[in-house]
Amino acid sequence: MDKNLLIEEAKKAREKSYSPYSKFKVGAAVLMRDGRIFHGTNIENSSYPLCMCAERNAIYNAMNNGYKKEDFLALALIADTEGPVTPCGACRQVISELMPKGTPILMASLRGDLQETTPEELLPFAFDEKALKNL
Ligand code: THU
Repeated sequence: MDKNLLIEEAKKAREKSYSPYSKFKVGAAVLMRDGRIFHGTNIENSSYPLCMCAERNAIYNAMNNGYKKEDFLALALIADTEGPVTPCGACRQVISELMPKGTPILMASLRGDLQETTPEELLPFAFDEKALKNL
């Protein structure tokens, strides 16, 4: 996997951001096993809770195109931050459920920072479907 290429794709996704309220543009890109790449960017709304993060949009974009959990190879995200941008808690929950354990998550910044992690490192003790079986 070419990490720099996926980060460049996340940067392209960021250019599509609709973030007139926060003015904080985020871009994400997911790489699939067959080589396809899907973009996601943050899309805000004047009704603030309706804002959607870049990472979730990228994952949902791939799934809306018929891809499944086992098809994800990597996710990259980028913003104009001091240090690598990290996913919010809601995105960590979604990443944890929809991407395989061990999937490289590349957290980058426009300034060239890069830190790599995994879904389980981002969200230890994740709530998952096992809990629902105890009802
Ligand atoms: N945002 C993301 O897109 N991803 C994150 O993980 C953190 C936050 C977006 C949501 C909102 O549009 C803006 O950044 C400011 O919170």
